[in-house]
Amino acid sequence: VRKLARKNISQIKPYKPGKPIEELKRELKLKKVIKIASNENALLPSTKVISAIKDSLNNLNRYPDDSCYYLKKKLAKRLGFSPSNLVIGNGSDEIIALALQAFLNPGEEVVIARPTFLIYGIVAKIAGARIKYVPLKGLRYDLEAMANAVTRKTKLIFISNPDNPTGTYVTKDEVILFLSRIPKGVIVYFDEAYFEFVDFPDFPDTSKLINKRNIITTRTFSKIYSLAGLRIGYGLANKKIIDYLNRVREPFNVNSIAQVAALAALDDRHHVKQTLKMVKDGKKYIYAQLKNLGLRYTPSATNFILIDLGKKAHTIFSKLLKQGIIVRDMRAWGLNDFIRVTVGTRDENREFIDALKGLLNR
Ligand SMILES: Cc1ncc(COP(=O)(O)O)c(C=O)c1O
Repeated sequence: VRKLARKNISQIKPYKPGKPIEELKRELKLKKVIKIASNENALLPSTKVISAIKDSLNNLNRYPDDSCYYLKKKLAKRLGFSPSNLVIGNGSDEIIALALQAFLNPGEEVVIARPTFLIYGIVAKIAGARIKYVPLKGLRYDLEAMANAVTRKTKLIFISNPDNPTGTYVTKDEVILFLSRIPKGVIVYFDEAYFEFVDFPDFPDTSKLINKRNIITTRTFSKIYSLAGLRIGYGLANKKIIDYLNRVREPFNVNSIAQVAALAALDDRHHVKQTLKMVKDGKKYIYAQLKNLGLRYTPSATNFILIDLGKKAHTIFSKLLKQGIIVRDMRAWGLNDFIRVTVGTRDENREFIDALKGLLNR
């Protein structure tokens, strides 16, 4: 089968998500598991969302609305664009793949930071792209070096802003300077999965640029709206780009429950406020505790924190797992000294910190 597979597929290491919670409980004989590994929202979806989902269940015999008509209309109004500036994806992840499928010719290049969100590299390899990796500088995107990496063959540049797994971001001024150096024929893809969590005035809203440049900006319902299990996100771009993304999009790519849930989620501002408060308070608490423990961390613009544990990182990850606390082991990113921890509820944060203290004092 190895010989049958396309050459570029053989080099791909499959993405490794964590084990299902129920399986881990069974395996380790644990009563309770805390999952703070995948940057999900610890809060359940809002009650408005749950009741909208319940009301929609009778229509499951039908295919979903392929155009996501109502969701696009609502998002367009909310964001100040036209529905034709929007594409809805089965998770914002799907839009990364659509961009490569629609625009990348064989032999063309893609510029990706390293380390960053792993999906860019995986999907670019599937598409057969030549990848130019640009190292982070001090755990931040080095936009100057990324601009320098552009050649006549470059088609797409991926920028996770804020970045996963570091939680750092590039500023408005940095983005403007960067774009001034990028030829118009290169598409710049801003992945803004954590956009709603950012609380810094110098953070850029790149959607404002979509009608001026070849830019794709994606956001998601997985994080702030607690809908990771339904897989729904959206992309903003100029109409011509959206037209090409739609040509490669599979019909009915977004299921009907996800569409109904996303519509209801947009109406629940209370849920958004509650989430932001939980994350803000949680970060404050975790930062203070890490400082007390003499541990270094990267201040984060998102709902997760990258923590430097030095040589002990993997051992601590494994020991936390045995206690039923799932954090992210960072070896797949080459960040061997780190773990990444999602900000959870107050109790989850406390249990994580208590377990960490226990392991460090041993
Ligand atoms: C930077 C980044 N982009 C995209 C995603 C995936 O978003 P979605 O659930 O919309 O596919 C994640 C999820 O962790 C992420 O960290």
